[in-house]
Amino acid sequence: MIIASNFKTNHTRSSTKDFVGAVNEYLKSNRSSEVYVFPTATSLDNFDLQDNLHLGAQNAYPTISGSFTGEIGTSQLDEFNIKTILIGHSERRHVLNESNESIVSKYKYYMELGYKIIYCIGEPLEVKNQGLEKTLEYVYSQLDGIDTTYDNLILAYEPVWAIGTGVTATNDDIINIHNAIKKDIDRPLLYGGSVKLSNVVEICSLENVDGALIGTASWNKDDFIQIIELTKDIK
Ligand code: PGA
Repeated sequence: MIIASNFKTNHTRSSTKDFVGAVNEYLKSNRSSEVYVFPTATSLDNFDLQDNLHLGAQNAYPTISGSFTGEIGTSQLDEFNIKTILIGHSERRHVLNESNESIVSKYKYYMELGYKIIYCIGEPLEVKNQGLEKTLEYVYSQLDGIDTTYDNLILAYEPVWAIGTGVTATNDDIINIHNAIKKDIDRPLLYGGSVKLSNVVEICSLENVDGALIGTASWNKDDFIQIIELTKDIK
């Protein structure tokens, strides 16, 4: 399983250190899951981590450095040895208005550099309401221009209407999309959108679900560790 925590705009440097330290301690004696944590850019740091715990950036600009006010590039990521990045998250697409074009260029840039990329796709409610065919069409359009054969790609299906809303997709919703994508793309595929302690085992046990990308329910370190513990034996 792959279990990832997206902090979004939560936690400070000090609480991130505490969180990452606790997860790392847990993983010292429980090495089965692959775990990712995406803190805020200000909380990235050089941590001494277990091999199966990875710290990633929630976002970065496709540049080494330069004049891109408010952004960070690889010179800032290199300082903390960050080689993992989240690209195409629904909040970047729909709240921060990042275009598909800039997402694709970001993907290409970080792929060239060999980063592990968690690439998010997912449809808004009005598309879901038009049925499976339209939903798949929409989701596939988000993969246009993306090299889905890239070895270091992890995909995350996160329906926009399920993110941060407490509304989880039904098992059928997840199975339909995951089966279709996995038929075409041979990469790990996570589900995200209101995954929590009470549903993580059921979701991660579904066919073609390789793990979960979790926001809200992952921000408490004890809950996150429990989620890792509960899912560690799921194949
Ligand atoms: P959520 O967020 O778990 O709070 O729904 C998921 C995500 O944004 O990755």
